[in-house]
Amino acid sequence: MISARGTTEKVRRGESPSKEELSALVGGYLSGAVSRAEMTDFLRAVCTCGLSDQATIDLTDVMLRSGDTLTFTPREYPYADKHSTGGLADSTTLIVAPIVASCGVPFLKMSGRKLGHTGGTIDKLELFKGLRTELTVEEAERVVDATGVAVIAQSKDLVPADKALYKLRDETNTVKSLPLIASSVVSKKLASGADVLVLDVKTGKGAFMESVEDAVKLATLMTDILFAAGRQAAAVISDMNSPLGDYVGGVLEVGDALDVLAGKKGRLRTLALILSSRLLAMAKGISLADAEREAEEALESGRAEKKLREMVSAQGGETSLFDGNIRAKYKKNVLHSVMAKEGGYLAEIDCVSLGFIARDAEKQGAYGIFAPYKVGDFVKKGASIFTLYGDSPVTADVIDRLEKAARLEKSPVGAFPLVYEIVERRRGS
Ligand code: URA
Repeated sequence: MISARGTTEKVRRGESPSKEELSALVGGYLSGAVSRAEMTDFLRAVCTCGLSDQATIDLTDVMLRSGDTLTFTPREYPYADKHSTGGLADSTTLIVAPIVASCGVPFLKMSGRKLGHTGGTIDKLELFKGLRTELTVEEAERVVDATGVAVIAQSKDLVPADKALYKLRDETNTVKSLPLIASSVVSKKLASGADVLVLDVKTGKGAFMESVEDAVKLATLMTDILFAAGRQAAAVISDMNSPLGDYVGGVLEVGDALDVLAGKKGRLRTLALILSSRLLAMAKGISLADAEREAEEALESGRAEKKLREMVSAQGGETSLFDGNIRAKYKKNVLHSVMAKEGGYLAEIDCVSLGFIARDAEKQGAYGIFAPYKVGDFVKKGASIFTLYGDSPVTADVIDRLEKAARLEKSPVGAFPLVYEIVERRRGS
């Protein structure tokens, strides 16, 4: 007789639970036969003691089989998709999706909503007034027929086990675990039908995987599982010690992505190009150098911007945000500036806190925070480290937390690289 407690005890002893045991546990939790307390014990045991690679692969498969899996109408090139493990000021999907699609590779992504301190792509897309994200897969495929790209909300029938477990992990502080993140991400990606995947694995103080070493392990495990299941996958280990883009907060993050599509340079653009070229190289079977040229050209020529506009329209959204003057109105009124009292080097940004501050400020009607400096940058005396924009005042608590979200030091501080490592499993490599 398989018991939840027995499975958890095995994990605690450092033994590998069998697939049958994992299946009974996850299935039992979904049906109500395994209690919330029993499942929480299991998640805590995994967070503390880890899980073997084989058990992680088995858990991924058990989760995958808890719901539907999608297949799409074959096209000239395989479908591409991307996933980020969660970062701040990260609107790369709004740039990668149209770059890839404008180079002829179909891109159909299911995205999530806000999670913890990070913003969700779906919430950002819904800032294009009228844009529908709750599309069926058939409707999304019709959008891909018309434009080559669609980004929709995660279907509730896809990996229900992840939905249930993720919620519990969020509530019980059991998110930060390599096997749990790997099974969560990979089960969703295997269910969502794409053949070619790029994973953006964040590392640093603002990420679930704080050490680069753990992020590389996670990236390797995820790409291995995806490759074994017949997919090509690259994982880019990227920095999350500073916000990726220059703005934190929904409408300003969308604006940042649209600025990049209109030619703005910087880290957001660089990472979006790296992610896009990996997808293009794998999907088209071309060299990375050729893929980089194609991605850059799609951006420089304005084709990618036009593609996103087409997608927004095809999903029913209005496109006024593409007009820079309309975006500028969200940055007209400064609610608060965090000034550097002395010149110094930016030693730390509390990205988790900054994300929550932006969310709280948005709830009070603010638009978001301009955060142009990255760890290692020199900030001159009197310069604004953070600028909070909005048309209605926010509480003193928000301002107080914002004042404390960055730390300057007198002596130089080393900058973090944008990308630490890339792990790839592509055919022929
Ligand atoms: N993103 C996911 O989809 N799952 C996790 O567990 C963490 C980040």
